[in-house]
Amino acid sequence: MTIWLGTPSVDGLGGVARVLGEWQVEAGAVQLHPGDLGWFRRFGGERTAAATRVWERDGETVAIGLLDEPDLLRLAFAPAVFEDEELAAQVAADIVDPSRGVLIEGKVYVEAPVGARVKDLLSKEGWGIDDPWTPLKRELTEPVEDSGLAIEVIAAETAHIRTAVQRAAFDGSTFIEERWHAMAEGEPYANARCLVGRDGQGEPVAAVTVWSAGPGKPGVLEPMGVHRDFRGNGYGQAITLAAAAMLRELGSSSALVLTPSFNVGAVATYRSAGFEPLPETHDQVRSG
Ligand SMILES: CC(C)(COP(=O)(O)OP(=O)(O)OC[C@H]1O[C@@H](n2cnc3c(N)ncnc32)[C@H](O)[C@@H]1OP(=O)(O)O)[C@@H](O)C(=O)NCCC(=O)NCCS
Repeated sequence: MTIWLGTPSVDGLGGVARVLGEWQVEAGAVQLHPGDLGWFRRFGGERTAAATRVWERDGETVAIGLLDEPDLLRLAFAPAVFEDEELAAQVAADIVDPSRGVLIEGKVYVEAPVGARVKDLLSKEGWGIDDPWTPLKRELTEPVEDSGLAIEVIAAETAHIRTAVQRAAFDGSTFIEERWHAMAEGEPYANARCLVGRDGQGEPVAAVTVWSAGPGKPGVLEPMGVHRDFRGNGYGQAITLAAAAMLRELGSSSALVLTPSFNVGAVATYRSAGFEPLPETHDQVRSG
């Protein structure tokens, strides 16, 4: 059977996000989420489409990749084909084939879900493992406790507040208002919300974006941050609780987040908001 690799059109991105949403299963592996595509959309539809790869077999989408960086491909697979040898071999070959235009040459990284056959193939081919990441998860069966912060759901008119907190939380952030609008125009944002938390003085101190993949599916936080002038006051915990509560309202069965394990402050913050760490994961790396 022929496995076909392509890049979607901008109009096709909504369909790709929908398929990624269907592949999020509560008992399944953590993998590329429609929210990751949605967050990338801040760079615009053209750039997002150019960074997206879709593998099809028999007219059915079986794997999706997002070049989150030119040297980092993040992969998701249809749950039924995680261990499919033929597909794994094709994906492993395609991603390093210069004529297929997926990963650049030299040192490159792949994030594939735990249990995907392609991981075994890459390690057999000599790929190493990179620094650990910690996924954390909170079930949303029970109501989430109150965050204690005044929480505002961001709309087009208040986007500048969301983006200002982002830039005050993440060094080097380029999240300007224009990028918020580009993100909000993307289909995944229909199932997303940006929240800003204000302290007692009304100052915007923390922000988060949450992405639902539909009812009964895990939703994700991407990204979450506290203004650097206001850290150490419990606002990280509070905005994370608000994020979990919003995902519950959107119908998510659980809230998921992924952070580099070295970000001990983030791991501590998520834990303090009732998230439990799952086993660490590693990107795979091919040295140049
Ligand atoms: C991580 C971050 C959100 C923490 O925000 P904060 O408002 O200072 O966190 P809180 O005051 O709510 O602290 C929550 C818990 O984490 C702990 N914590 C926070 N920062 C910590 C650090 N750097 N090292 C160790 N523990 C830390 C607190 O002690 C607290 O634990 P406790 O509940 O056991 O007392 C903030 O530092 C930040 O925005 N960093 C940059 C962006 C980022 O990394 N975002 C997360 C990844 S997407």
